[in-house]
Amino acid sequence: MVPWVPSDDSIASTWSRTQSHGLGAYSPSNVMISSVTGEPVHPHANGAIDQRGYSVAVRRDTDEHLLVEFVTARLLLRELTDADHASVHGPATDPEVTRYTDWGPNTPQATAAFLAEAQRTAARRPRTHFTLAVVERRDGGLIGTVGLGVTSPEQHRGQMGYWVARPHWGCGYATAAARSVLDFAFDQLKLHKVVATCDPENAASARVLEKIGMQREGYLRGDRLIRGQWRDRLLFAAIAAHE
Ligand SMILES: CC(C)(COP(=O)(O)OP(=O)(O)OC[C@H]1O[C@@H](n2cnc3c(N)ncnc32)[C@H](O)[C@@H]1OP(=O)(O)O)[C@@H](O)C(=O)NCCC(=O)NCCS
Repeated sequence: MVPWVPSDDSIASTWSRTQSHGLGAYSPSNVMISSVTGEPVHPHANGAIDQRGYSVAVRRDTDEHLLVEFVTARLLLRELTDADHASVHGPATDPEVTRYTDWGPNTPQATAAFLAEAQRTAARRPRTHFTLAVVERRDGGLIGTVGLGVTSPEQHRGQMGYWVARPHWGCGYATAAARSVLDFAFDQLKLHKVVATCDPENAASARVLEKIGMQREGYLRGDRLIRGQWRDRLLFAAIAAHE
């Protein structure tokens, strides 16, 4: 898939540009199916970036393979492909990026497995996992990934996570990406609750979760084995406002 990168930051033209750059399979009648309810859910009416700051595009291939893309003011969140290996692998070998994660620093094989898993889950029907590249619109460069998984369709519950490459920390990118995905979880997938966890020492991640409106719900002791050491986790969660 060729990443769609607009030549300017025009929000108003986002949808028409999307349609004219290969995502044109979308039409008002070509809606995605909620992985939770199995019923159609409607993307934003005209695809314009709304007050929440993102638009979502949905593409169905001829075989009904569901692909999603989000556009924010500065970011494109798109499906991952094998071509992303180098862009993902660099930051995934950075000990600062993986300091509080239960993965990494990655071997090339681990990065390949991550990309394969992202694409494998993307192909599932109904789709329950969305692991997306976080790409800067201005140059198309991959700066991180964000993931959302429906962990319990019955309970309408999901979990999310993210990372951003170190040179891009502090620019608000994780917040923008996480906010888009959280809104998508509630607006499109009709989830009731989305949780996220972070290491108690990972102040930046806790701050991101606070900024997107999650509340701290708990302190999980000895919850995650990280490079041979059992680590505690902070539990954050958001509940759908529409209920
Ligand atoms: C956590 C992470 C995703 C944040 O990405 P980011 O793009 O820098 O996040 P944002 O710029 O959107 O927001 C970061 C916030 O944390 C704050 N912050 C950063 N370091 C901090 C620190 N040491 N103490 C307190 N706040 C801190 C920033 O000031 C900012 O808040 P503000 O907007 O109120 O000023 C990034 O640091 C990262 O990828 N870390 C490694 C992977 C990781 O930990 N992933 C999460 C696993 S749970």
